[in-house]
Amino acid sequence: MKKIGVLTSGGDAPGMNAAVRAVVRKAIYHNIEIYGVYNGYQGLMEGNIKRMELGSVGDIIQRGGTILYSARSEEFKTEEGQQKAIEQLNKIGIEGLIVIGGDGSFMGAKKLTEKGYPCIGVPGTIDNDIPGTDFTIGFDTALNTIIDAIDKIRDTATSHERTYVIEVMGRHAGDLALWAGLADGAESILIPEKAEDFEQVVEKLKRGQERGKKHSIIILAEGVGNGTEVGQRIKEATQMETRVTILGHIQRGGSPTGSDRVLASRLGAKAVDLLLAGKAGRMVGIQNNKLVDHDIIEILSKPHQIDMDMYKLSNELSI
Ligand code: F6P
Repeated sequence: MKKIGVLTSGGDAPGMNAAVRAVVRKAIYHNIEIYGVYNGYQGLMEGNIKRMELGSVGDIIQRGGTILYSARSEEFKTEEGQQKAIEQLNKIGIEGLIVIGGDGSFMGAKKLTEKGYPCIGVPGTIDNDIPGTDFTIGFDTALNTIIDAIDKIRDTATSHERTYVIEVMGRHAGDLALWAGLADGAESILIPEKAEDFEQVVEKLKRGQERGKKHSIIILAEGVGNGTEVGQRIKEATQMETRVTILGHIQRGGSPTGSDRVLASRLGAKAVDLLLAGKAGRMVGIQNNKLVDHDIIEILSKPHQIDMDMYKLSNELSI
């Protein structure tokens, strides 16, 4: 393999730049030509592809977002879209592609691999919802952004003796909510993986009030439902002064944490190693702090698992 490409796709995640840097530098280290594909699969179909040099990825390891930009492409899901993409790659002679993104992006990598075009997936999403890896790039940074926001909300919640419902991202996964809830000592954590026991949430709030608690924090994963509605239900059931904060896209930005930079560097470099070893249709991941790789097709068919022991612990600690 003499020429490889790299793209970022789907929702961006802090640390994607560190992963791009690792791919580019590792490829050049092995005397491989490396090409950046701009705007995800959309840019791939349009031939928005540029050769990258060592300097192309200088001064980006600390930056959030992605210098390659990102997009969600409907056209690429079609047979014609995928053919267009392969034509563009063939035009330049790119022989393998590294896709940094979430499960939607991996579906694209899977399709290209099935068409005989070798792809390797690198899990980059704040949601931490990809099976086969303990962590995805961006999760730790988003988690710390949430913690920082909740710490601030806690100040004003205490001053006004209010209950707060804080809605966090995660799409269909509750990892961000669960980890943030445990890290922030939330009274209740509502996640899609565990059916909500609304009575228990209300009882806990009332018990806290009786004990003289000055504020309460409830973390709601967006996959469970709408924060405003949950806030209204809580207000009606408890008569407590309740406010709702939807953290939104602030969770996707910011400089990546040390953990995310290290994870991204390790996974990006491993993806290049796999391509050079002649592997295709694999996803790199980290499990028990060891780099692993899995068949991308098999792994996508597995359900995402949440750590229910952590959920139990958060309940035990917030009695
Ligand atoms: O997958 C990352 C993510 O931020 C999810 O947590 C969220 O549901 C979604 O993307 C938001 O997507 P968009 O930026 O397209 O609104």
